[in-house]
Amino acid sequence: MGANDSRTSLVLGVDSSTQSTKALLVDAATGRVVAQQSARHPQGTSVDPRAWLDAFDAATDGLLARADAVSVGGQQHGMVALDATDTPVHDAILWNDTRSSAEALDLIAELGGPDACAEAVGSVLVASFTSTKLRWLRDHEPEAAARTTQVLLPHDYVSRHLTGGDPFTDRGDASGTGYFSTADDAWRPDLAESALGHAVDLPRIVPSSQVAATVADGTVVAAGTGDNMAAALALDLGPGDVVVSIGTSGVASAVSPHRISDGSGSVTGFADATGRFLPMATTMNAARILDLQARLLGVDHDELGRLALAAPAGANGLTLLPYYDGERTPNRPGATGTWTGLTSSTTREDLARAAFEALLCSLADAVDHLVERTGITPGRILLVGGAAGNAAVHALAPAIFGTPVSVPAPGEYVALGAARQAAWALAGTPDPPTWATATAETYDAPSTPLVREAYAQLRHRTSDWTPTKGSR
Ligand code: XUL
Repeated sequence: MGANDSRTSLVLGVDSSTQSTKALLVDAATGRVVAQQSARHPQGTSVDPRAWLDAFDAATDGLLARADAVSVGGQQHGMVALDATDTPVHDAILWNDTRSSAEALDLIAELGGPDACAEAVGSVLVASFTSTKLRWLRDHEPEAAARTTQVLLPHDYVSRHLTGGDPFTDRGDASGTGYFSTADDAWRPDLAESALGHAVDLPRIVPSSQVAATVADGTVVAAGTGDNMAAALALDLGPGDVVVSIGTSGVASAVSPHRISDGSGSVTGFADATGRFLPMATTMNAARILDLQARLLGVDHDELGRLALAAPAGANGLTLLPYYDGERTPNRPGATGTWTGLTSSTTREDLARAAFEALLCSLADAVDHLVERTGITPGRILLVGGAAGNAAVHALAPAIFGTPVSVPAPGEYVALGAARQAAWALAGTPDPPTWATATAETYDAPSTPLVREAYAQLRHRTSDWTPTKGSR
């Protein structure tokens, strides 16, 4: 709707995530949420990206017209490969699709090994990165690869739907492609070319403070960014803040003024949406560990939490290694889940407890990697994401992390961060607008190191198991 004279400016923040699109209409001056809507995405690790455009239209219906500025945050890494008519040549292959793990190893070798790879693109490549998916396309779908003239990230593709013009992105999401230099803050088109086998067009990179495009009615469109970068912007992270996000992925991240280049591959050295960096350790199995367990036990997440809290720490010797869909931290793309310690006395409570303990031990590993590889001194641990509201997470996270955790009020932090970026571009100021920070509850509990020890032993014992999953 554009210019908005008689009333407060409103901005629309959109989260095009793995599972759904969420849209928040927000007061640009205060960050107060005025309205929100959502729409589901199709399931699966490869998806026709046009489904996201339908979800965007549904989730923003009636809200877009009220906004003076819009920004789209999106799931990182996904490959949207388009032909000369802007038609997808293949389903988008998402961050949690592990088909390109062998291609990741090839590309690392071509870059001169893990250290050189991390130095060149900020991270050691795993199957999540866009470049590995381009290489997979080259080798498995050569006809589709040959037709590809342009490669976008999910959020770029949705933003372009909004503007209809030249595509654009930001440094945060670009840093998850495998063909962006975090040292030079610029594309490495040569790396996109060598991954796909021929040169492709890449979107223009726009800083968060700038207007990326203005649509016909005057509505400003900001650069957008990756979902984790948007959440960091919403939470206004300061030094020592570690965010642990429990969504489809599990993430431990922190902002850093310095570029991170971790040749061990435990931490990806992304750029953020503010001109700083966002080192991160990411797991592929997070909220889904609870989804599966709840389904198997025939309960909802709240009841799963109640069952878990009725079992003792350590679940009477039951331990789960939750790498159900392959894992990325540690890098075991072919892994499956492993249960040990089942006896004829194992109860439903133990099964629920072991699932929460597995989720939190896997995230505690991610936090450890982040701290070890970046040298940051953690101050607060902020727990966000769908599962962060569960009572069992509140009780068990401080025990397993061995430190208190802060849980900000439930909210759509990715969409809120996108809204803050939209307000920033609208204001055109050097810094993002100051919004009231979310109130947080702090939880503490005596630590349970034996739970982590049992988990670490199982992780260690399975480290050389041969993958058994069908096509992996
Ligand atoms: C981060 C990552 C995930 C996705 C989830 O590297 O792959 O957190 O961004 O949407």
